[in-house]
Amino acid sequence: MDTARRVAEAADLVTVALDELLPRADGPETRLTEAMRYAALGPGKRLRTYFALETGRMFDLEERSVLRAACALECIQAYSLIHDDLPCMDDDDMRRGRPSVHIAYDEMTAVLAGDALQAAAFEILAHPDTHADGGVRAELVLRLALASGARGMVGGQMIDMLGVREDLGGVARMQRLKTGALITCAFELPLVLAHAQDAERHALIAFAHDLGLAYQIVDDLLDAEGDAEVMGKAAGKDAGRGKTTFVTLLGADAARERLGLLTTQTKSHLDPFGPRAEFLRASVDFVLERRQ
Ligand code: IPE
Ligand code: IPE
Ligand code: MG
Ligand code: MG
Ligand code: MG
Repeated sequence: MDTARRVAEAADLVTVALDELLPRADGPETRLTEAMRYAALGPGKRLRTYFALETGRMFDLEERSVLRAACALECIQAYSLIHDDLPCMDDDDMRRGRPSVHIAYDEMTAVLAGDALQAAAFEILAHPDTHADGGVRAELVLRLALASGARGMVGGQMIDMLGVREDLGGVARMQRLKTGALITCAFELPLVLAHAQDAERHALIAFAHDLGLAYQIVDDLLDAEGDAEVMGKAAGKDAGRGKTTFVTLLGADAARERLGLLTTQTKSHLDPFGPRAEFLRASVDFVLERRQ
């Protein structure tokens, strides 16, 4: 089965699971829960889910636990995108081929829906249905908190918004935080569930770091050269806003060259896993060749 098909299956699984887990309300707060559902159940690529599920399969984990971890990751992802699109941040009207949450609803609802999705992520992880052992659940919560907070995604978003970095090292650090941390977390959560040994853990985390870097370089290239229709979000925003990205800094050709070098290095981290990592290995090409 090819990667696109496996990603689509993972997307269906997580969307059905999220539909069950996300709150519904009867009172005036219905507007909030509808906006949460609009954002989290929308047509995202669900690549973090895919990475988590494939890692879970590599370690023969129970799918239910990994799927709940994936739901938590997708709640954080949806919240981060709602806030990223707000007028005070990237001011983007389109997301996943539809009006952004603050356009479909309003800014106030978008802020609150993001806040509540963040809480939902931790509620899902901390719930006994995720794992029988409270210690394991606490470790999952800790990993997601570190990946999404000031030392992870939100920290990276701050650097991005301030626009302070001007060299390659600075852009790489920003990327590691704003995008890399949550992608790495998609591997870390199943690693926690698997009680994986250090050597396997280190190899997979190194893979995740390079994959996350490649992911953001592709995002930056797509911003510069991609088709807004296919991507479901506007193109050409970064240069217009004076953002420093791999592409605005290096130029598209040099960024692509870097991506080429990164491909071999990324895959090499999976060598210790042999054929067990077949699908993760294939996902590298999938990420690099993505058009949306
Ligand atoms: C968009 O993430 C923001 C970045 C971190 C580059 P994705 O490209 O994974 O967005 P969705 O979840 O598929 O919409
Ligand atoms: C956003 O990066 C990363 C997040 C943590 C949400 P971008 O601002 O480049 O993402 P897009 O291009 O709007 O999807
Ligand atoms: Mg942004
Ligand atoms: Mg943005
Ligand atoms: Mg972008």
